[in-house]
Amino acid sequence: MRILYLIFTLFVVIPKQSNAQSKAALHLTSDFIDKQLLEAAKQIQILAEHTPTDKFPRTFEDGVHKFSNSSWWCSGFYPGTLLYLYEGTGDDNLLTLGLDKLVPLAKEQHNKGTHDLGFMLFCSFGNAWRLSKDVNQYKDILQTGAQSLASRFSETTKTIRSWDHKPWHYPVIIDNMMNLEFLLEMSKMTGNTRLRDIAITHANTTLANHFRKDYSSYHVVDYDPETGAVVAKKTHQGAFDESAWARGQGWALYGYTMMYRETADEQYLKQAQLIAQFILSHPSLPNDLIPYWDFDKDKIAPTDRNYANKDLRDVSAAALYASALLELSQYVDRKDATYYMQSAETILRNLSKAPYLAPTGTNGGFILQHSVGALPGNSEVDVPLTYADYYYVEALVRYQRLLAGQPVIATLN
Ligand code: GLY
Repeated sequence: MRILYLIFTLFVVIPKQSNAQSKAALHLTSDFIDKQLLEAAKQIQILAEHTPTDKFPRTFEDGVHKFSNSSWWCSGFYPGTLLYLYEGTGDDNLLTLGLDKLVPLAKEQHNKGTHDLGFMLFCSFGNAWRLSKDVNQYKDILQTGAQSLASRFSETTKTIRSWDHKPWHYPVIIDNMMNLEFLLEMSKMTGNTRLRDIAITHANTTLANHFRKDYSSYHVVDYDPETGAVVAKKTHQGAFDESAWARGQGWALYGYTMMYRETADEQYLKQAQLIAQFILSHPSLPNDLIPYWDFDKDKIAPTDRNYANKDLRDVSAAALYASALLELSQYVDRKDATYYMQSAETILRNLSKAPYLAPTGTNGGFILQHSVGALPGNSEVDVPLTYADYYYVEALVRYQRLLAGQPVIATLN
């Protein structure tokens, strides 16, 4: 089955990555990228000294580290960042730290109560599997995790359910696009085409229901689980229901870029480009390309007390854009490739210095500062966040690959 699948992938799904050279000229040097990776590696080893064996770093607020259990949606980012930094620097200590963290995380393979298993298991075990010399290592954990995620798919709504709590009926958030890579890779690993079908069906339903005419996306689409009809389109972390929450646009950009890589379906490439256009041409995007937490924050009434600090940037969204744009630049014509590459380079340059990059030894060992988790709930506001670091380091490693003449995305086992 696996062999048949590989043949299908090789001959029916046309390889889309340029194999030798980046589609666009590269302006950042190896010295620059390597230096950033080395600095990031120094920082994360400080974080590692503070991190209890069975806990996962979330943020550092008011001089205090906040950790989570393995069931928090972000638990995979810290081991994933360590593994990327090992890849980018060759420092074996980072590999050991990353692999050690997989031990308390493994139980989440059985977690059927969340859609976040892509973040939790694929950013962690997925990278470990990719870097392992033994293709069978982590296979069982990854396969079980993918089945747990697939258990949340409904043939009626044609989506994977995001959350189980009220008042939602059957909520699907744009973030959920990020779980599909896990299903697609596990489909290739196992030959189980149902996982691939679920990913494609979810992406198509999201494409139909989550986007506005300007290609910005709603955060939450709530479905009727009995009929599959859309009940409501809302926000949870954005400024208001019709606003464009900055990180949500990043999840969409990254998600559809990845869907094109995995399927060669041109509608996903078109969608990714339209999302990129929305982001990069938006009048409220600052010149340094580090977005405010919501593109529509200026439409919030000045008297609204919830948003007293609405003029904040969200570095996590910027890191996500950079990583996604680097990949997207490899799939388009030279003019667009140059536009996306230069945008990603601007973001990387700016994230690699003050005020976004934390001076070594500060910030509790987190690499970047000034992200926003959820401003409406006043949670994790203007703080470091583990996923900002993950996507920043991922983007650096992707860039390092391009500089070395390798495809932007490493081939999986
Ligand atoms: N997936 C949750 C968030 O982006 O904050």
